[in-house]
Amino acid sequence: MEIDQPVSLLGGLSARQFMRRHWQKKPLLVRQAVPGMVPPIGRQELFSLVEKEEVESRLVRQGADVWSLKSGPLPRKALPPLKQPGWTLLVQGVDLHHAATHDLLQQFRFVPDARLDDLMISYASDTGGVGPHFDSYDVFLLQAQGRRRWSIGRQRDLELQDGVPLKILARFEPEESFVLEPGDMLYLPPRYAHDGVAVGGDCMTCSIGLRAPSAMALGADLLARIAEACAETLDEIPDAAVRRFRDPAQPAVSAPAAMPAALQRFARQAVRAAFGNDEAIDRALGESLTEPKPRVWFDQAPAPGGLSEVTLDRRSRMLYDARHIYINGESFRASGRDARLMRRLADERTLAGRDLEGASEDALALLSDWCEAGWLHGE
Ligand code: SIN
Ligand code: CO
Repeated sequence: MEIDQPVSLLGGLSARQFMRRHWQKKPLLVRQAVPGMVPPIGRQELFSLVEKEEVESRLVRQGADVWSLKSGPLPRKALPPLKQPGWTLLVQGVDLHHAATHDLLQQFRFVPDARLDDLMISYASDTGGVGPHFDSYDVFLLQAQGRRRWSIGRQRDLELQDGVPLKILARFEPEESFVLEPGDMLYLPPRYAHDGVAVGGDCMTCSIGLRAPSAMALGADLLARIAEACAETLDEIPDAAVRRFRDPAQPAVSAPAAMPAALQRFARQAVRAAFGNDEAIDRALGESLTEPKPRVWFDQAPAPGGLSEVTLDRRSRMLYDARHIYINGESFRASGRDARLMRRLADERTLAGRDLEGASEDALALLSDWCEAGWLHGE
């Protein structure tokens, strides 16, 4: 992606300028970010998606000051009539299930993949919305069809309404408001309060959602992964090679229940050695961030005969760092030419025949395994 080129998606800013001036800092309203916007998915197709078990969806309805929330799967008859005002259907991760929506999300890859979460689509009848709220993540709100009024504000008072099934601000104080037409886009940094209300029916909005792990949740996940990796390696090490606690200087004790200080020191060292290893942490991070989303299943395929071109499945997550390649929760050490090839696959999500020509036997075997697993599609 050309990051220094001014783009209409960002209102004539280059990706570099956008990241410097707005990212995580301040909102940006872009009129005609996508000129001639055509919704990536039709209404009927969206309604059929939410009937499926593997698609995460919610139906939000607003009556006179009462909010109701219903989680998917949602059969067609669970959706209110189109003409009935005040309802919204939210469909998470549409990019995982629908090729054109996945393609639209690719335009936002000036943000690292590790930070991009998914593309959610909301479909609302007239006046539909999910109420004033804030999110913990940045979001790009791209109007795909119909019109929506967004009211936004910096909001200091983050108290939420009691007794509602949604997170709705108790006292929203909007500072600005704008009506978005198809192709218009609004970027909001994390915790910026917003309220989107459909103006007229048949309103479709794409939310390009980001993810930012919390230190506690990420830390806990990485510790669990490192612990599991340590336990696995321990199984492979012959017993004699495992450093074991020894205490030839232990004197006789008259207080037998007291913990020996030497054993505490040994335990602290063991934990620091296991968890203080940067490479183990990098590996756990790569595996964690490429873990497929819940409810993602890949379709296994027969091993391809030979490979002339490969493309990552749209559900595959692939990242890399200086020493490793990560894909769908697994890590591989790679260096030299093979590492360059795999990095190219991760960045471009595809490899052409000429890229594959110089690939080693090992790299080709790995690509072929990934094709079998359904992570990659080969020709
Ligand atoms: C919506 O599209 O209606 C909600 C998206 C959001 O507020 O983040
Ligand atoms: Co929001």
